[in-house]
Amino acid sequence: MKRIFDHNKIAYGGDYNPEQWPEEVWQEDMRMFKKAHIDIVTLNVFSWAALQPSENVYDFEKLDKIIKLCSENGLKICLATSTATHPAWMARKYPEVLRTDIQGRKHKFGGRENSCPNSPVFRKYSARLAGKLAERYGSNPSIVAWHISNEYSGECYCENCEKAFRVWLKDRYKTIDEVNRAWDSAFWGHTFYDFDDIVLPSELTEHFSMYGRERTTFQGISLDYRRFNSESILNCYRLEYDAIRKYVPDTPITTNMMGFYYPLDYHKWAPFVDFASWDSYPGPDEPDGHIALSHELIKGLKRDKPFCLMEQTPSVTNWHAYNKLKRPGDMRRLSYQAVAHGSDTVMFFQMRRSIGACEKYHGAVIDHAGSEDTRVFREITALGEELDRLGDRTLGSLAKPKAAIVFDWDNWWGISYSAGPSILIDYHEELYRYYNALHKRHIACDVIGTSDSLDRYDLVIAPILYMVKDGYDEKISEFVKNGGSFVTTYFSGYVGDSDLVYGAYPGKLRDILGIWVEESDALPEGEENSFTYDGKSMPAKVLCDIIRPEGAEVLGRYEKDFYSGEAVITKNSFGEGKAYYVGTESGEGFYDRLIYDITKEKGISGVMDPAEGRDGFSEEMFDGLEITRRFSEDKEYTFIINHSKDDRSAVLDKDGTELLSGRSLKKGEKLTLKHNDVMIIETI
Ligand code: GLA
Ligand code: ZN
Repeated sequence: MKRIFDHNKIAYGGDYNPEQWPEEVWQEDMRMFKKAHIDIVTLNVFSWAALQPSENVYDFEKLDKIIKLCSENGLKICLATSTATHPAWMARKYPEVLRTDIQGRKHKFGGRENSCPNSPVFRKYSARLAGKLAERYGSNPSIVAWHISNEYSGECYCENCEKAFRVWLKDRYKTIDEVNRAWDSAFWGHTFYDFDDIVLPSELTEHFSMYGRERTTFQGISLDYRRFNSESILNCYRLEYDAIRKYVPDTPITTNMMGFYYPLDYHKWAPFVDFASWDSYPGPDEPDGHIALSHELIKGLKRDKPFCLMEQTPSVTNWHAYNKLKRPGDMRRLSYQAVAHGSDTVMFFQMRRSIGACEKYHGAVIDHAGSEDTRVFREITALGEELDRLGDRTLGSLAKPKAAIVFDWDNWWGISYSAGPSILIDYHEELYRYYNALHKRHIACDVIGTSDSLDRYDLVIAPILYMVKDGYDEKISEFVKNGGSFVTTYFSGYVGDSDLVYGAYPGKLRDILGIWVEESDALPEGEENSFTYDGKSMPAKVLCDIIRPEGAEVLGRYEKDFYSGEAVITKNSFGEGKAYYVGTESGEGFYDRLIYDITKEKGISGVMDPAEGRDGFSEEMFDGLEITRRFSEDKEYTFIINHSKDDRSAVLDKDGTELLSGRSLKKGEKLTLKHNDVMIIETI
């Protein structure tokens, strides 16, 4: 079993910034950490200014002390490289390190993640700092992981980036004719004669805002810029990675990600992180399935390893419009939810509240009162005790999903840059609609990218697969021919890698699905059509495809308007498998029913059915009761979590031991969970 780093229990701690405090406070921190059962700290996240006060001066004295203090106190360390904010002297001396934004405004010193990813100066000094840290601290056994930069983000439109973009394009397309072809630049006479004619697509060129969104007149160049920008930032990460690896042979290295973060294609990043980690900051009313979907995305980046919950707030954020407190028990429940989906850590931002700047009102393990006599500190301590008791049991264990949802950044960018058919098309929310139907039935699911193999799955759902990249149709075709069930939706199969239309929709998926789409009706907000499915009327919203079946069986037909009676839901037999097409956006009841039908046909069941003996479709979905399972070599861990405000019951499917209470449980036993209750049941 693969553990993400050297640890013998679920790592518990988080971002700790003692450099912002006088040393007297440090001893008190150590005392309180011990009390709360904290065993890991992420150090050195924002210290570049202190570590390199001028171009040729490095000063590690304070960091030496901090690392010594933490090591001596038995804390494990996740050591950050501090490169998310460059020092002020660098911006003054080398303005090229500063970013330019999409409006063409050259930035000045300030903020964070404000360094141009293609600045040679930034690249040189960030990699150098990472190397110096690795050389100095690499052999310290307390350091269990390295943490490069912090939440890489954004984009840059400066001269460095423009030059680098041309080089990137030359490498990708070889000739300017190929570029012109890929971008269909003859449209509006934007034909380029030379690579030097190409400028970054910004608000000075092809971009503008409309309907509250960033739009472009040329999707081809904008899409390539997105790929280039994500890769440019990844290259900064990789330079630091290599600099660390020179001195540190095998301590794992990561960077903290942000779930569904639009500018960075984490699937392309995944091969370069030794384990995936992310920062989870759900809104106060965010449904549990929504949070779970982000965990699945991160879990899917490294399918055969657990991940790391690098940050969450113990109590409150500062950056939402209304920063509602996590209620008693919420932090514990959300921590276990991460573990239930494959995290081997529970970590916080931050250990002690700062007294200044924009995060001074962000929750922390130790708040401004500095007291251990607070609700939050008591809850943290209680969870710390529990995690100590759990020990290493769940570490390295993994889910074994038979279902997968495909998510792809190129596709996301393509969909959101598309002018038409509707601004209401929301890729992430459409994923969630399908995911939630699986989630509510406790069916394990991976979120995967287009480069992942489909071999291990029986069901693959690719909502709004607008862009079918080169070869991906073959992958799907193989999968279905070999007996898999495949589901896709409206606005799928339109374009290839460069956003050029294939022909009749759904393009290369036409044979697999046994249909073609003649027209699509975009309905404004509030307008609906409807269709029948399984004898019931279901809503049809946002986009209504008018489908011409070519061999597919029709499962649903419209009920209104000039296309009343036309097909909207179809199912095609292809090889040994089935391919479903859902030609509209519908309501929760439809997704519940469809997923029930497809998974039943395929023999995919939930990890546990909370209602023993339930036969057939039931509207009773046990909302808010989450059940997942992780498998180790010889044991299974079933997580049952009640996110709802009301009691929820589940009938246990096997004998086991509930690890948090130590209770022995019998198969068939009815378990009742109150709001926020968590059970972790070990079975052999
Ligand atoms: C992010 C960052 C932290 C901090 C928190 C505040 O996750 O990584 O440095 O800014 O947000 O929520
Ligand atoms: Zn730049």
